[in-house]
Amino acid sequence: MGNWFTDKLFSFFMNRDADQNTTVDLITWNSSYEIGHELIDQQHKTLVKMINDLNTAYSGDNTATREELANILSKLVNYTVFHFGSEENLFKNSAYPHVEEHIKLHESMVNKISTFQEEFNKGEADISNALLSFLIEWLLQHIKGTDRGYIKYI
Ligand SMILES: [Fe+2]
Ligand SMILES: [Fe+2]
Repeated sequence: MGNWFTDKLFSFFMNRDADQNTTVDLITWNSSYEIGHELIDQQHKTLVKMINDLNTAYSGDNTATREELANILSKLVNYTVFHFGSEENLFKNSAYPHVEEHIKLHESMVNKISTFQEEFNKGEADISNALLSFLIEWLLQHIKGTDRGYIKYI
């Protein structure tokens, strides 16, 4: 190693890395996710943030307790239900031709995550990378696929 100054700088960066939670966001919001409806885009952004929060708590510095993870999970499940309700209110009385199918997709997602949540709370399931990839894949499909269908009818 070089002189005193570069040694100091080196240790500063080493310590900084060790002190900070260096977990990166699993998913970064970008304009290609926007569907062009302010309220819905805002809610989708919140869902992205909640999935990132779950990932950070799960894989970050590993200090999150099961109770903390259960809390984040519960927020995610509740917000998802709330978001689906907002969408359904917007499109249910419109000319959107896939109202029933879209509601069924929402119901099936709510069933999946609620079932997981129950298992987690009973200690029968754990947060895993597989769960996080499932959430992200689902969210992207939902935002970039399904939700684009109703936008021109609301
Ligand atoms: Fe949505
Ligand atoms: Fe939707």
